[in-house]
Parts: sequence; structure tokens; C-alpha cells
Amino acid sequence: MRIDILTLFPEMFRGPFDASIVARAREQGLFQIELHNFRDWTTDKHHHVDDDPYGGGAGMVMKPEPLFAAVEAVQDQAEPPGRVIMLTPQGRLLNQGIVEELAGQPRLLLVCGRYEGFDERIREHLADDEISIGDYVLSGGEPAAIVLVEALVRRIPGALGNEESLDEESHTQGLLEYPHYTRPAEFRGWSVPDILLSGDHPEIEKWRRRQSLLRTARRRPDLLSRALQNGAVSDEDRRWLEEELETNLSDLM
Ligand code: ADE
Repeated sequence: MRIDILTLFPEMFRGPFDASIVARAREQGLFQIELHNFRDWTTDKHHHVDDDPYGGGAGMVMKPEPLFAAVEAVQDQAEPPGRVIMLTPQGRLLNQGIVEELAGQPRLLLVCGRYEGFDERIREHLADDEISIGDYVLSGGEPAAIVLVEALVRRIPGALGNEESLDEESHTQGLLEYPHYTRPAEFRGWSVPDILLSGDHPEIEKWRRRQSLLRTARRRPDLLSRALQNGAVSDEDRRWLEEELETNLSDLM
């Protein structure tokens, strides 16, 4: 996979992309990231990338010319053309389903904005998609692009070294993950649940599954509701959960 990132601040990516799993995956050639400063595509003397909004009002708006020129030039640098994704607070709210969908693409172009917003023609005629990482406003799309790349890299075969952990982690199966423990078995008087020390693997699996359900029900009823509706929760799981919570889960469906 190739990811091109268009930004006014390429230096914001150096720390996050030069460490840990992202750095290793790049070194191993599992995916390629190219950073581009779209100010390089300005043609005026002062290299303006923004201008006043028509109709007045506070703040500046990203101009269309440099972004169109940058995206078109970057598309020409490699094959196939990439899907153009703007990072904005108005985009589709990022979740694991969207990560899976994007991880299947051979190439992505991530466009990071600054200032008050993008000229609407960029949104309408240049972008294929818009992604938001949450209902809050950042000063720019760069941290959002970093978040997206982190989530994508985890889905690239070979990037983690331990592919099993992928299928178990939170959100992959639509539920939150079960609790983890490691040595010591007792710490400051707090013990690890006996079942995990029993060596009885089928029972451990069952306990983990149930903890995962319980945790999702308590912390993220919205996710549990979706899991109940799409058949990810068996009848037996559901009965157990209803007993444990002393509620009827039909209310959530
Ligand atoms: N740019 C500014 N805020 C953002 C957000 N919440 N998600 C993605 N990009 C953004």
C-alpha cells in the first residue's frame, strides 16, 4: 500500500512515523508513505494557500488551486491513482469498519487542511471521501492522518509480527476486548482471576468471551446493540448476559 500525505506541515509526521510499528513496516517495505507540502504547488509570489472567505466572516479558507495542482501531480507520481481522502471534522466518523475498507485499497492520498476550512470545490470535485476522527475540532487534519495511518498499518499482513492479536483486539469483532493480566499473580493484594491460572483453555476462552460481552454492555451499549443485531452474539451468550445484567436485551435491539 502507498499513502501520500498532502500537508503544510510535513515535519509533524516525523516523530510518529519514525517509531514503533509504523517505522518497522516502512523499513520492511510493507507500505510506503510519501509526504508532500502543497505549498510547493503555489504559483503566486507569496506562496498563499489560503484566502478570505467570500461573503465575509472570520478565518481563512484553503484555496483550490494549490490543492488541485498538488493532488494531480502526486497522482501522476505512481500507479494506480489513489483514493483522495480529506481529513475534516465533517467527514464520516472513523471506526474499525472504515479502517478495514480503506486497508483494502492499494493507494490513498490524505489531504490535511488547516485554517477555517476548505473551499467547497475541493470537497465537491477533488475529494473522494472525508474522514473525521471524532466530534471535536483540531487545528488541522495532521493528527487525524496520523491516527488513520496507525490504524491502517495494523491491518497490513506482517506488520504486527503476531497476526493473532489482530482478531482478538477491541473492535475487530465488534466488541471490546476482555481484560488481560500478566505476572505477578498477586500484586498489592489484587489477584489475577483463578480461571486464568487453571490451564483449562476451553474454560478460559469462555470466560474471555463473557468478559468481552460484559465489558461491551457496560461501557459501549451502542456497540453491543450492533453486535446483537448483526448476529455476532449467540443465543447462549445473550441468555448469559441477560442473566448477568438482569435485563432484557431486546431493548437494545
Ligand atoms: N481536522 C480538524 N478536526 C478534525 C477531526 N475531528 N477529524 C479529522 N480532521 C480534522
